[in-house]
Amino acid sequence: MLQIVYISSARRPIGSDQLEEILDISRRNNQLHQVTGLLLAAGRRFLQALEGPSDAVLATYARIAADPRHGALVQLGCRTVETRQFGDWSMAFRGGGEIGGAADLRGEVERLVAPLDDANLRAQFAGFAELHARAA
Ligand SMILES: Cc1cc2nc3c(=O)[nH]c(=O)nc-3n(C[C@H](O)[C@H](O)[C@H](O)COP(=O)(O)O)c2cc1C
Repeated sequence: MLQIVYISSARRPIGSDQLEEILDISRRNNQLHQVTGLLLAAGRRFLQALEGPSDAVLATYARIAADPRHGALVQLGCRTVETRQFGDWSMAFRGGGEIGGAADLRGEVERLVAPLDDANLRAQFAGFAELHARAA
């Protein structure tokens, strides 16, 4: 199985309606292709992990990278994993700032990622949430 983690920023602010639509489509597609993961949104910034069968993850990442709503994507990691970190989450989501509206993004994300085996992933997601909590 392949796991890709990336950060990106939207070209324009993404409203809550558009975000709902992105999540609906993502969950539908991901379920169909056995892709699981986690998406964090903070203002225009995103941090997302995708995992599943290599072909499916690469195809999903290629679609996301080609999405005109996205500016630059920066891959933080791309590696083979034995077991899924994100269980059966077709795409878990937490958001703060202009979208999503979690009052305590940092606390929520820390609780959410606490069960993950991979300490690096936990740190990446917690770090993103903390950075945003400070910037807010
Ligand atoms: C931040 C962000 C995260 C996304 N995550 C996913 C995802 O996990 N899976 C997915 O299929 N599409 C995701 N998308 C949507 C894709 O960019 C693309 O619009 C969609 O896959 C097209 O699906 P369709 O060909 O079924 O219309 C994401 C888009 C954004 C902006």
